[in-house]
Amino acid sequence: MKNDNILIIGASGQIGSELTMALRKMYSQVIATDLREPNQEVMESGPFERLDVLNKTSLHYCIKRNNITQVYHLAAILSATGEKNPELAWRVNMKGLRQVLDACVELDVKKLFWPSTIAVFGPTTPRQNTPQWTVMEPNTIYGISKQAGERWCDYYFQKKNLDVRSVRYPGLISYKTPGGGGTTDYAIDIYFEAKKNKHFTCFLSKNTRLPMMYMPDAIRGTIELMEAPAEKIKVRSSYNISAIDFTPKEQAASIQKYIPDFKIDYAPDFRQKIAESWPESIDDAVAKNDWGWKPEFDLDGMTKDMLDNIGTTAAIV
Ligand code: NAD
Ligand code: SER
Repeated sequence: MKNDNILIIGASGQIGSELTMALRKMYSQVIATDLREPNQEVMESGPFERLDVLNKTSLHYCIKRNNITQVYHLAAILSATGEKNPELAWRVNMKGLRQVLDACVELDVKKLFWPSTIAVFGPTTPRQNTPQWTVMEPNTIYGISKQAGERWCDYYFQKKNLDVRSVRYPGLISYKTPGGGGTTDYAIDIYFEAKKNKHFTCFLSKNTRLPMMYMPDAIRGTIELMEAPAEKIKVRSSYNISAIDFTPKEQAASIQKYIPDFKIDYAPDFRQKIAESWPESIDDAVAKNDWGWKPEFDLDGMTKDMLDNIGTTAAIV
């Protein structure tokens, strides 16, 4: 077991609940924190504290009392929820990040992980094989806050020597915790509805292509980034990472290989416009070259694993 003391902020969410468990296999002290209680697995496997990242006093107290040496700051308001409440999204995503950056510098935290997203790109970005460095004019409050966040991370690395590391996650798919209010959540719900009702009504249109990733790849990649020697991490804003891209129609065809009578129909809503402003596929050559990023799951491999696990005790209840 490694000895660093790790703090996870936003540990009850889709990524946090799986990242906490992965880190607890490696590190002796992993403190999970969130506004709300995590799932049973996280609750029973180590310490949990209620923490509002916007409360500076509590944040500093938690870091000091637990002698924290690494922070994973996951708390955020995602794209679809953010469009419904832009003030809240800006406050949590921006003020929350700045408080964490300052706390890490003031309290001598050695390393910080903060995730960015494909939502930092916008309608003027090249949509196919979107490069690491390109036009970035996001038009959701979520994307605007994450793009500004990337600049703050780079600034704290350059000016305050903070070892901050980040990836731009694509849409993440998993079965342990529900999606957190994102535009890509359809790609999770489709598996649950396929298993339960053999039918799904999709809130994106059938040919909307988006970059996606299965959660085990995302968790492994995140830990590999954080464990890499500092000199290999050349990008301190955020790295493009990529695994698979598909449309709802292609995902439905993948499900039909395992559930032949599965049916899908389409009723696009406000999330369609958000999806259309994001890349269809991502060029992650820089992450591959700098720290060896490599995805493992393809669409059919992910579909099989999702369908095998939904309905077991490991899945969302
Ligand atoms: P999620 O919504 O499932 O989890 C976020 C957690 O943050 C929730 O449990 C929520 O209770 C908590 N939270 C909200 N406000 C808080 C506050 N003030 N103080 C403390 N906790 C608070 O989100 P997720 O999918 O797990 O995403 C985690 C991070 O990864 C976010 O920064 C998100 O932008 C980023 N990301 C996620 C995806 C994805 O597809 N899931 C893709 C790209 C980037
Ligand atoms: N999955 C996220 C969302 O849809 C992308 O960051 O909001």
